[in-house]
Amino acid sequence: MKKIVIAIDGHSSCGKSTMAKQLAKEIGYVYVDTGAMYRAVTLYALRKGLLNNGNIDEARLQDDIDAGLVSVSFRFNAEKGRPDTYLCGELVEDEIRQMEVSNNVSPVAALPFVRKFLTEQQKAMGKDGGIVMDGRDIGTAVFPNAELKIFVTASAEVRAQRRFDELKAKAEADKNTPMPVYEEVLKNVEERDYIDSHREVSPLRKADDALLLDNSHMTREEQSQWLLEQFKKAIK
Ligand code: DC
Repeated sequence: MKKIVIAIDGHSSCGKSTMAKQLAKEIGYVYVDTGAMYRAVTLYALRKGLLNNGNIDEARLQDDIDAGLVSVSFRFNAEKGRPDTYLCGELVEDEIRQMEVSNNVSPVAALPFVRKFLTEQQKAMGKDGGIVMDGRDIGTAVFPNAELKIFVTASAEVRAQRRFDELKAKAEADKNTPMPVYEEVLKNVEERDYIDSHREVSPLRKADDALLLDNSHMTREEQSQWLLEQFKKAIK
């Protein structure tokens, strides 16, 4: 059976990666979290001191990318049942989810040379199909011909609460992880929405042929059933 490309785009913290990951597992496809790739480049910039108070040393970041010093890859973690993100060969899966990275990722993701660098890799990963890729521009820029496109959203408050619960659980399990503040998480969600949908290159928008999924009031089970139905329709 032909393996298709499934593009899942939408706002931050609306559970895109959880649903994309689960769908990929159910149908035996590869899952790619493109947000993790932008986060990894942001972590690189933070570590190298190229990002200070929202100011990016674009020239140096571009030089490092051009010189092949920034590499982002995934390795499947069988225990967790999902891929882990590596930056220059180092496991950074947890670090890229911290608030410091979340607070700085949008301006990095708005840089045209960063988008070009990462979208080329994403296109290569999905060229043979059999992939579930989640992000912001997958159905519009990376795979405009994807056989199935989903655009996911939920209210900012619902998304901030979900993200807050996730960060709180992490902080409770690990005393080195700072306890989140709900208002800060909400502000971060709203700011990211704004930057993601107003940037010049590949702004976040629903592709005309994408199916809209508002999951503000849906359970995970309802959502995964709905997704599976769309997949079955798409491969018919
Ligand atoms: O999905 P996420 O929250 O991990 O994404 C992190 C950031 O990367 C977010 O600000 C949007 C940006 N991003 C993007 O611009 N394009 C993508 N394909 C994926 C993520």
